[in-house]
Amino acid sequence: MASSMHPSSPCFSLQSLPSNGSVSKSRTTSIFLRLGSPTAISLRSLIASRGSDRIGIGGENAGRMRSKVLAVSTQVMDESVSKATISKVPTIVKVDLGDRSYPIYIGSGLLNQPDLLQRHVHGKSVLVVTNTTIAPLYLDKVVVALTRDNPKVSVESVILPDGEQYKDMDTLMKVFDKAIESRLDRRSTFVALGGGVIGDMCGFAAATFLRGVNFIQIPTTVMAQVDSSVGGKTGINHRLGKNLIGSFYQPQCVLVDTDTLNTLPDRELASGFAEVIKYGLIRDAEFFEWQEKNMHLLMARDPSALAYAIKRSCENKAEVVSLDEKESGLRATLNLGHTFGHAVETGVGYGQWLHGEAVAAGMVMAVDLSHRLGWIDESLVRRVDSILKQAKLPTAPPESMTVEMFKSVMAVDKKVADGLLRLILLRGPLGNCVFTGDYDRLALDETLQAFCKS
Ligand SMILES: NC(=O)c1ccc[n+]([C@@H]2O[C@H](COP(=O)([O-])OP(=O)(O)OC[C@H]3O[C@@H](n4cnc5c(N)ncnc54)[C@H](O)[C@@H]3O)[C@@H](O)[C@H]2O)c1
Ligand SMILES: [Zn+2]
Repeated sequence: MASSMHPSSPCFSLQSLPSNGSVSKSRTTSIFLRLGSPTAISLRSLIASRGSDRIGIGGENAGRMRSKVLAVSTQVMDESVSKATISKVPTIVKVDLGDRSYPIYIGSGLLNQPDLLQRHVHGKSVLVVTNTTIAPLYLDKVVVALTRDNPKVSVESVILPDGEQYKDMDTLMKVFDKAIESRLDRRSTFVALGGGVIGDMCGFAAATFLRGVNFIQIPTTVMAQVDSSVGGKTGINHRLGKNLIGSFYQPQCVLVDTDTLNTLPDRELASGFAEVIKYGLIRDAEFFEWQEKNMHLLMARDPSALAYAIKRSCENKAEVVSLDEKESGLRATLNLGHTFGHAVETGVGYGQWLHGEAVAAGMVMAVDLSHRLGWIDESLVRRVDSILKQAKLPTAPPESMTVEMFKSVMAVDKKVADGLLRLILLRGPLGNCVFTGDYDRLALDETLQAFCKS
């Protein structure tokens, strides 16, 4: 969608239209895109609950850019957190990408429901890709889920070393070695069992083995369940930079068994919440307000609160991905805080700060800059600080970071276009953001100076 936006496009807005002539009582979606400046995209989406709405665009692009938001779930969850989400019936969020659409199943005990996985395995062979930490915890369970009452399917597994430092070409080759040794063919299915590292690597292996085989995601961290397993970005790191080699490759399904979070270390849990908070800030005010009331439940791993946060996060990500799969513009808004955060990850060395921790500090800096520019109220600055503290996430970068370290990493950010650094900043009431290169550079300097000692 955003690919058809041209710098000279007029301002236009997207608003929900009733799909059958009547306004849906249960759901309101409104998205405003303003292209007053070449690089600015302002997005607002309010999702009250379920249903699917048509969105239309005013202005001269109206017909061409008509689209449909279909990131909907089959169960409704309001602020009271219904018991339905923790029942054995999965909540299903659909990622709408035409003939590459797929479901995200979310719920407790889903690995005990073999049919959910088996319906997405088409050939006779499956390769489960996992790591040394997750294999002892969940590999047997996944193998049983794939093979129970299903004698036709044979399952192989490859257990990789654990860690971001192994998200590389050498480790990827181990997946191909196993696939070739096992004589897997084009109809085989690769299953990623693990966090974002395994998901990204297995997805890239599936995208390239025999030019593409079926792929299923079973994410086991909050980070992977709310973000990395959805949307089809796959890849590995190069020694000169993170995620530089990869492809867009969508899975057949994503199966989120919330029970797997029971074994996740506290720090990893909180790191994932940074992305959950991000969705509220950039496009879902109601979800942010829910988090303000329920963060203590999330931190206590309350199963129904977790299931709700995952569902709502996946709905938000699915909507954005459906509208802008290849990141022409809108999808970039999912990177709130990531430009500053990436500088922190690079500055302190990968693995020192978890991704979500760096993003949390980065979001505080983006919010500070938004406030300096006069784009948001001070009350929002305080609310962001408070919710991150509740989630035990950092609210400032490490003291070792200097203004120069930020500037040098930010200068090579993927969002630099024609030498201009574009940032995702908040603008307007809670739930609104812009992706823009049109901001006062002095304000950015002030933000960097405010958070760095030198
Ligand atoms: N593709 C995308 O859109 C996208 C989005 C965000 C992040 N990512 C990528 O995801 C990666 C980070 O993902 P992550 O935060 O999940 O890290 P991770 O995959 O390294 O997992 C974190 C740690 O938790 C362990 N673990 C995983 N599940 C567990 C469980 N249920 N119980 C106990 N331990 C468990 C892992 O073995 C690992 O040690 C990065 O490489 C990042 O680039 C990709
Ligand atoms: Zn992220």
